[in-house]
Amino acid sequence: MLKNLLFCLTILAFVTQCSITPEKITAPTTEENKEIVPIGNKISGELLATLKTELQSAIKEGGISKAIEVCNLKAIPLTEMITNTSDRIVSVKRTTYKFRNPHNAPNEFEMLALDYFQEQIESGNILPEYYTQKINQGDTSYFYFFKPLMVGNICLACHGDYEMMTPDIKDQMAKDYPDDRAINYSEGDFRGLVSVIIRE
Ligand code: HEC
Repeated sequence: MLKNLLFCLTILAFVTQCSITPEKITAPTTEENKEIVPIGNKISGELLATLKTELQSAIKEGGISKAIEVCNLKAIPLTEMITNTSDRIVSVKRTTYKFRNPHNAPNEFEMLALDYFQEQIESGNILPEYYTQKINQGDTSYFYFFKPLMVGNICLACHGDYEMMTPDIKDQMAKDYPDDRAINYSEGDFRGLVSVIIRE
């Protein structure tokens, strides 16, 4: 009986310990940054370039509704496709405070990164080109690489002043994204991040 109880307690202690191993964030060392920054830059650059090309050719082919379709339907598979190009990439996504697709909502680490860039902007500092974190969990660790995204003129058709958006875009957004928060941006605003998880 006592033996059983002890056994249960040991298991319980083990399980509790496992489930509460906290993830600790540290700044990567200079050496680690030297490795992960080029990977992060390459992957986020590829994602942005691919999205831009897809967007431009969709606009040319079928107008803005067709382009919405590209952003909506292809953005997620595109990020998956890019993930497959390097075995150190765990995931790539876009994230932001005011998201259009709830799938792109920030997690706790991404929220810290958003705050980091937001603070830099509010303090009037030159926008850093990237931000990195090392996430330590028990014996394992991984890295986050973040690249900031700003609102350009081309973004305004779908993320700009709601009153200025065309009826077809408004209708499409209302249909696809009933909780859309990604509107009323101006050119030059901080829009969000490309967030890349890189294996150690
Ligand atoms: C043709 C319309 C259109 C244009 C132009 C456009 N977007 Fe988007 N954007 C969308 C749609 C639709 C989504 C939702 C994609 C999804 O479902 O993941 C989105 C999502 C995003 C997201 C992911 C976070 C979220 O809100 O869900 C970011 C970041 C983003 N856009 C930035 C930009 C930037 C920066 C530009 C300009 C370079 C831009 N977009 C231009 C339609 C557009």
